[in-house]
Amino acid sequence: MKIITLCLAFFVGTVAVQAQEHNMSSGYVRPVDPEVLQKLAHWQDLKFGLFMHWGTYSQWGVVESWSICPEDEGWTQRRGPYSANYYDYKKAYENLQTSFNPTRFNPEKWAAAAKDAGMKYVVLTTKHHDGFCMFDTKETDYKITDEKTPFSKNPRSNIALEVFNAFRKDGFMIGAYFSKPDWHVPTYWWPYFPPKDRNVNYDPKKYPEKWTAFKQFTHNQIRELMTGYGKVDILWLDGGWVRPFGSIDPKVEWQRTIPYDQDIDMAAISKMGRSLQPGLVVVDRSVGGEFENYFTPEQTIPAKPLNYPWESCITMGGSWSYVPNDTYKPTNELIHMLVRIVSRGGNFLLNIGPSPEGDFSDTAYSRLKEIGQWMKIHGEAVYGTIPLAPYEYGNVVYLQSKDEKTIYAYVLSDKDGHMELPAQISLAGMPVRKNSQVSCLDAPKEKLKLALVNGVYTIVPTDKLKQKAISFQYATTFKIVL
Ligand code: GLC
Repeated sequence: MKIITLCLAFFVGTVAVQAQEHNMSSGYVRPVDPEVLQKLAHWQDLKFGLFMHWGTYSQWGVVESWSICPEDEGWTQRRGPYSANYYDYKKAYENLQTSFNPTRFNPEKWAAAAKDAGMKYVVLTTKHHDGFCMFDTKETDYKITDEKTPFSKNPRSNIALEVFNAFRKDGFMIGAYFSKPDWHVPTYWWPYFPPKDRNVNYDPKKYPEKWTAFKQFTHNQIRELMTGYGKVDILWLDGGWVRPFGSIDPKVEWQRTIPYDQDIDMAAISKMGRSLQPGLVVVDRSVGGEFENYFTPEQTIPAKPLNYPWESCITMGGSWSYVPNDTYKPTNELIHMLVRIVSRGGNFLLNIGPSPEGDFSDTAYSRLKEIGQWMKIHGEAVYGTIPLAPYEYGNVVYLQSKDEKTIYAYVLSDKDGHMELPAQISLAGMPVRKNSQVSCLDAPKEKLKLALVNGVYTIVPTDKLKQKAISFQYATTFKIVL
């Protein structure tokens, strides 16, 4: 245990582990179950959620799971005293279980900060690719509640349960991130062979009993999450290489290298999940088809609206996992991301990696607070909105209320946070009328009028408002009631 603590020093400072990016899937299939459709529609209105990648890896401050994957990629690099030998490293990594003790764990504090920021749903890594379970599974002792893990003595040791309960109490929709691949269980990386890459390390066709056992293990774990954890709304399944051969998209490089059919029987998983959690939204990431109820572009924002439900997941820092002294994106950038995502009809799932002690960094809290202050003024132009062409033009982003009776035009500040209102904001092609009312959410008392410029309805900010706007932060909103 001492050695592990000592090792920390070697890892600290090795920031910005670039994780691998998922491409978007093709072939959306609209669910037919009315309860799923209803939940999905409700989720689409929430717009803003909190993602948390948390596991034993936070103690070393390294990338989540990937450093034990024997692939030579930027995000899989090993560092620190065990890095010279793969097996020594994996052993030391898995031994992190014996020192994980996040005694500052206080999910109510997270829920309060996220709620204040205007977030309305949460997704937590219940198990990442490394296989360490942040819930009290009966299927393995590689888990937070096992006696080898010091935190098991804590009355709140069943972390997933505690997080879900705390956020649910604050009205959040609950999402369980679960990795289909599991780099700990011997039925995925069979110790008889060395692991070769992220995939199963034996041919499931040649060893069908082994694959069946792995499938059973996975189904059992998902069943546990769907039974003992209260109402769960979203099953967010990562590790898109665990998929039937037939679903591989040859245009995507990482999918071309999948060597085996890894059919996990999603039909059975989703049937079981929905029998226990009616209307469960299933997100079999990147696989496409019936079990990917919404798409999850990663670290990117689509340029245009997509004609199916989607969510951009993006890190607040440089890494999904906790990294000491990580560089957090400025509030300005985060709010611009939110505005852009929402204007394309998507949701923003913003990730924070909790520390090994069980808290967010002060910077993360201050970002959430600043976002919250902005949301209190501009929230009506975020929730329950839908896209409106041209979506974005210059530094103006457009969207509209769902009933199509109100248009919102955001003016974004520049990269350094300076706000300068344009001389004119065109509403070309929008259903504006002569007596439509215009106001600015940051200065609601300011009298504003629409002008006809070359036959096009246009907002012409007054000099007084322009002057005032210098002190507006991040993005200001013009509201046009039609
Ligand atoms: C990337 C990372 C993975 C992470 C995921 C979140 O795919 O490789 O570790 O969980 O992003 O979307």
